[in-house]
Amino acid sequence: MSAQIINGKQISESIREEIRSEVRELAEKGIRPGLAVILVGDDAASQVYVRNKAKACEELGYHSEVIRMPAETTQAGLLGMVERCNADPAIHGILVQLPLPKHLAEKPVIDAISVRKDVDGFHPVSVGNLMIGDDALLPCTPSGVIELLKRSGHSPAGKHAVVIGRSNIVGKPVSMLLLRENATVTMCHSRTPDLPEIARQADILVVAVGVAKMVKADWVKPGAVVIDVGMNRLENGKLAGDVDYDDVAPKAGWITPVPGGVGPMTITMLMANTLKACKRANGIG
Ligand code: GUN
Repeated sequence: MSAQIINGKQISESIREEIRSEVRELAEKGIRPGLAVILVGDDAASQVYVRNKAKACEELGYHSEVIRMPAETTQAGLLGMVERCNADPAIHGILVQLPLPKHLAEKPVIDAISVRKDVDGFHPVSVGNLMIGDDALLPCTPSGVIELLKRSGHSPAGKHAVVIGRSNIVGKPVSMLLLRENATVTMCHSRTPDLPEIARQADILVVAVGVAKMVKADWVKPGAVVIDVGMNRLENGKLAGDVDYDDVAPKAGWITPVPGGVGPMTITMLMANTLKACKRANGIG
């Protein structure tokens, strides 16, 4: 029997429906969530991501500002723009699209974003709050993974979760969130000996390594839940995850497809974070 699909598009749409209803309630109080996206330069992929974020804002009735800055923008110029957004009461979430052009340093820019508006969850204080279990704005892809699990009936509590990949953006935070959800978590990475052997012990396997089709059927325990965070462009132009879907699907119990699994959740969780930041700024929730 083949695995059941965890449909990220569908789950993402049901979260957006919940957001819409909250946005309507806020509108009655004269409150509108606002997101600023700052894009420096003209990286093609970033242009697409930023457009999609603005589209999501429009669809949900948010105030949205896309701030396009030229590739030659200076560090001081970018920091000034972040400060302007920090001070703007119509803006509840600030996202500086990464990567930045090479002459600009990311860290001082992320550090400059007000923690209360840090809808990416990348600020060191947000990371620290996540670590100690305080109520932080959580990074979008990791919190999307947790929502996918919970809303498909796979509470991580008491399960053995194995995470492959230790990036600051996905691997580390998703491990912390799984731990917070009472899973027993094993973190693996490129230097882990006998990765397939450890992966095979997982009730929940989360893969975020950026290597197309790395995880094969013999890495997976029969019936396991497999969450594929990978998004790799193949030579034929198609998208592939880090999991070899056709090989693994017959063995897993549940699996996320690529595209249509984790991907749609990221922007939706960004919208959820912006709503949360807006409610907090207005002393609600
Ligand atoms: N570039 C690609 N993904 C992301 C993201 O999640 N946040 C930001 N700020 N930049 C990105």
